[in-house]
Amino acid sequence: MEAKRAAAERAVSYVTDGMVVGLGTGSTANWAIRALGEGVKAGLRIKAVASSVASEQLALEAGIAITDFSALSRIDVTIDGADEVDPEANLIKGGSGALLREKILAYNSRQFIVVVDEAKLVDTLGKFPLPVEIAPFAAALTLRQLQRLGCQASIRHQGGERFVTDNANLVADCSFGIIASPGKLYEQLALLPGVMEQGLFLQPMVSRLIIGYLDGRVED
Ligand code: 5RP
Repeated sequence: MEAKRAAAERAVSYVTDGMVVGLGTGSTANWAIRALGEGVKAGLRIKAVASSVASEQLALEAGIAITDFSALSRIDVTIDGADEVDPEANLIKGGSGALLREKILAYNSRQFIVVVDEAKLVDTLGKFPLPVEIAPFAAALTLRQLQRLGCQASIRHQGGERFVTDNANLVADCSFGIIASPGKLYEQLALLPGVMEQGLFLQPMVSRLIIGYLDGRVED
């Protein structure tokens, strides 16, 4: 927890007055939202957009006003967590199921800052099942197409029910074990009808990676 918090707080130190900030989703992003809230209470003036209903809610509780996307011409920085990070800074995201909105924010941000604790660092992506957001329509067919890519895919459930994203879609969790070529898999997933978004985020999207370590160090 402290390592996630330290990484998130370092990221928030890059937020300055007047910036438009994209808020990620998950426990590490939550630390960033809380730190931003403290900043706002101390006089920091920002506009914020959120990658999930949960993050929007936390932001409002922390005293951060949420801006409508239509009122914005840019996002300066988005701060978000990740489930796995490889040595090239390719990512698996979507553990909380917010991958589609997270990717839209990341793609449209001048800077995408990724905040993780050291437990997220891996030599090769794939141990964490890759979340893929899929349309509910004919989900069984899409699931079969995903399996043909070499994974064990299953529809995510929560509390005995199918997990439904903020966009009213489903999530397929795809266990590849090892993703030998993230770039190749990215292209294959991008071509599949029914796939609304994938949890692979390739390195060119990442502007800065901040890692919190259990011994208190923060690498930036
Ligand atoms: C949510 C995400 C999160 O950033 C990812 O799951 C990491 O979560 P946490 O910070 O709780 O470890 O991609 O969709």
